[in-house]
Amino acid sequence: MTDYFNDPVAGDAPKQSYPLFRRMLPKKLHPLARGLRKRLTSEGYRSEPPFNVTYRYTQSSQRRQDSILEKATALVRDGVPGHFVECGVLDGGTAALLAYAARNSDRKIALFDAWAGMPEATAEDGDGALKWEGDIVGSPARVRRVLKKFGARMENIEVYKGWFEDTLPVSKIEQIAFLHIDCDFFEPTKLVLETFVPRLASGGWVQIDDYTSFEGCRLAVNAFIEENPWVDLTVESPAGGAIYFHKP
Ligand SMILES: C[S@@+](CC[C@H](N)C(=O)[O-])C[C@H]1O[C@@H](n2cnc3c(N)ncnc32)[C@H](O)[C@@H]1O
Repeated sequence: MTDYFNDPVAGDAPKQSYPLFRRMLPKKLHPLARGLRKRLTSEGYRSEPPFNVTYRYTQSSQRRQDSILEKATALVRDGVPGHFVECGVLDGGTAALLAYAARNSDRKIALFDAWAGMPEATAEDGDGALKWEGDIVGSPARVRRVLKKFGARMENIEVYKGWFEDTLPVSKIEQIAFLHIDCDFFEPTKLVLETFVPRLASGGWVQIDDYTSFEGCRLAVNAFIEENPWVDLTVESPAGGAIYFHKP
């Protein structure tokens, strides 16, 4: 068992842009507020494509974005079969990185989100999670617009709107090359791991955004690893590093 199993979470959860003001803003202006904060603080803004577009639409750290793009690009290059899947899409920033990597291929991308704010937390998530319930609301229409900016082949994009417990069982995804899990809490993380990791192709990757940020996510991943000892999780440091595992 590795040390990080018992480490407290680093608390590197994403910053919210102007938390009080944001609740009063129409949702379609949230990416603008996020982009403005990143530009003003120079924290999270990058001038090179595709990050010069995606920075407004994602809460993921720079290193985590790099890791998604690197892995997805290599999977396309190496012809590892299967969907790119994201569970937890919000405004589409990290989904757009998948679409960018896949733009010259026939790769299918499946996106899962309720787009209704975070669900109720459970005991495993701890008290710190309560403030996120009902918050973090994106929109599938906005996600489609962002993907189109990258020339994504929309016929290859599958959008599953709804709670994971309803959408995961009806999705017809047989094989997965890249799974991005970005849903913060214990129950959804557990469900996604149990449903989709068994469909991971040989050579495929799973990246987990919240392992060092949210208690519930960490507990769900640890429990999954206990049941699946082949999973060799890499937890990059410092805070904001990428967290992932590979199927040999
Ligand atoms: C942190 S956001 C995703 C961030 C995004 N990947 C980015 O680029 O910044 C988490 C998302 O997970 C979704 N989510 C969490 N639990 C869910 C569940 N049980 N069913 C459906 N969506 C869920 C929320 O609606 C929210 O949009």
